[in-house]
Amino acid sequence: LWITIEAAELSSLERGSDANDWSRSAQAVAQRGGLAIARILESGLESLAAAHHRAYRRCGGFMTHSTRAEAEQAVDAFLNPARRPGPRVDYTIDNGSVVAGILGHVKTGNIYTTIAQLSSFPNRRYNQPSGVDAANWLKTLWSSYGVGRSDVSVALYPHAGWIQPSVVLTIQGATLPNEVVVLGGHLDSINSGGSTLAAPGADDDASGIASLTEVLRAALSAGYRPARTVKVMAYAAEEVGLRGSKEIAQAHRTAGANVVGVMQLDMTNYKASTEDIGMITDNTDPALTQFTKDLLNEYLGYTYANAACGYACSDHAAWFQQSYPSTMPFEGVYPQYNHQIHSANDTLAQSGNNATHAAKFTRLGVTFLAEVAKGTLSPSLATEFAARQAR
Ligand code: BES
Ligand code: ZN
Repeated sequence: LWITIEAAELSSLERGSDANDWSRSAQAVAQRGGLAIARILESGLESLAAAHHRAYRRCGGFMTHSTRAEAEQAVDAFLNPARRPGPRVDYTIDNGSVVAGILGHVKTGNIYTTIAQLSSFPNRRYNQPSGVDAANWLKTLWSSYGVGRSDVSVALYPHAGWIQPSVVLTIQGATLPNEVVVLGGHLDSINSGGSTLAAPGADDDASGIASLTEVLRAALSAGYRPARTVKVMAYAAEEVGLRGSKEIAQAHRTAGANVVGVMQLDMTNYKASTEDIGMITDNTDPALTQFTKDLLNEYLGYTYANAACGYACSDHAAWFQQSYPSTMPFEGVYPQYNHQIHSANDTLAQSGNNATHAAKFTRLGVTFLAEVAKGTLSPSLATEFAARQAR
């Protein structure tokens, strides 16, 4: 595989001695603008992530690529602002009744339950059976919300290089089906202490998946029919270099898909700073990020401040690299965040055993959904949803 990583970080990382240590295979082959392109064996990825985590309290970032050309392209995209994406559509706020209708269905208790269930898998690693079990479990949950709707489908998205699939739910757009709105988070978890240790990943990123799951449930419960096609995604293999989202974003680019906006929720349940939300400013689209702030001001009143990861820290970067506009509202103002991630202590208890903070991101996700994908509410679909839940 090929990776891109900050050159200074690569050269300073701790080297281990076991057969699968990253340092056995990693070799930098090029360097531009402080970024290194290196070759590495796939078996070294986990120890690279772990070494990175130990060295940088802020966590470390690298991205994997299957060819050198792809790695070069990723460096270009990062270094050349002219190539960064702009909005593909005008973002407007004019769908307030649909926003309000869906918001009325949001239940914080559901978010709590989903985090509890996801974090009860021993781990959700990209290369472990329990990581696959978690994907199947989520597919079943999402499918239950779409029963009876011919415009809703749920599928596992297989990846050739590892066993954990991504999970994708699609709501076909009623009037603008070729314009796609994505809401995503990552399904996998990791414990940087070693691959056999517990990785509950309650905050990273069961919280984001749970926030999105409640956006989806509330929308379908309200009888929401989007104008644009909506895809809700739980990405596999984020923790080992954004591998799942990278394949998916690439496939959208190859297919010529018109993705008009991507919201990434990665870590939503730990209130880390005075402000409610950190708006990630790197590897995101400035216009869509501003629009996310407009949504907060218009509908929710939660406080926010700009923040940067400083590296390709989550799946929004995979979309960004394919020149699709992304936004990432985050649980705190970076570097204020839950520092128990990537350990056995990333549990619900660490966030006070409630989902209050994550619920803010669900409500923000609802406003994003209804204002970017537009559309209407169907009272009869809402009635049918309620009748199914009652059975
Ligand atoms: N959720 C984290 C990213 C994160 C951590 C954002 C802390 C903001 C604050 C994500 O799951 C992660 O751990 N990413 C990796 C990078 C990836 C490319 C391997 C990381 O940060 O080490
Ligand atoms: Zn994460």
